[in-house]
Amino acid sequence: MSSVLIAGATGLVGRAAVALALSDPRFDRVVALVRSPLPAAPRLELWTGAPDLLSGLRPQRMDAVLIALGTTMRQVGGDRARFRQVDHDLVLGIGRWARALEVPMCGVVSAVGADAGSAFFYNRVKGEMEAGMRALGFPALHLFQPSILTGPRGELRVGERIGIALTTAVAPLLPDRYRPMPHDVLAKALLQAALHPGTGVHVHHHAAIRRLADQNTTG
Ligand SMILES: NC(=O)c1ccc[n+]([C@@H]2O[C@H](COP(=O)([O-])OP(=O)(O)OC[C@H]3O[C@@H](n4cnc5c(N)ncnc54)[C@H](OP(=O)(O)O)[C@@H]3O)[C@@H](O)[C@H]2O)c1
Repeated sequence: MSSVLIAGATGLVGRAAVALALSDPRFDRVVALVRSPLPAAPRLELWTGAPDLLSGLRPQRMDAVLIALGTTMRQVGGDRARFRQVDHDLVLGIGRWARALEVPMCGVVSAVGADAGSAFFYNRVKGEMEAGMRALGFPALHLFQPSILTGPRGELRVGERIGIALTTAVAPLLPDRYRPMPHDVLAKALLQAALHPGTGVHVHHHAAIRRLADQNTTG
């Protein structure tokens, strides 16, 4: 039996991860770290931190922590510092909390192309976030690097829709790691990693994420 905390639980990936975890008897405790409410569900425990998400964290050790947090440059009005505050600082804040409580496994949704030395701001922030998480020294750290994710999104993201249409059309021609992926495949893979963390740092691209999801036969 395993306990898991999911951050980013109101998002596309996080919501799917919460729903899967709640229907999976291998998880006896499912905590969602949120700043806005999620509909109540049996067995779902909400830790609310608002406006600062980190204020919702409690001194309770989990078996695994999954982070699917992120914003977009559009949501922060093009403000790079605000973007970094979410995609880097908040993720690391949760990582530090988890390490302090000796949580043995952390899984983080990053993005394909994450690279601290990249000329592209988005890839650079993701790369710096990954480097920061590695430096925390989790017994098991799983970094997920999906390309564009498909799934039901309430908000209209025109750029993302165009990206999905283009990458889906040319998917057979793309290197595997740039192919689009359904959001719930990633959620399944996150939970599989939480249940079978192993040790060390694992970086998962498209094919590895699909493999992990396929191994998750109960979630
Ligand atoms: N979508 C893609 O195509 C794609 C592709 C590659 C990588 N990724 C990465 O995958 C991760 C998850 O993506 P997603 O599409 O599932 O994200 P999403 O649907 O946009 O959800 C983002 C989550 O982050 C939370 N969040 C954003 N700003 C916050 C803040 N200031 N304080 C606290 N919480 C905040 C949101 O909470 P609220 O609901 O409270 O705003 C939500 O739970 C992100 O790191 C993203 O960069 C996404």
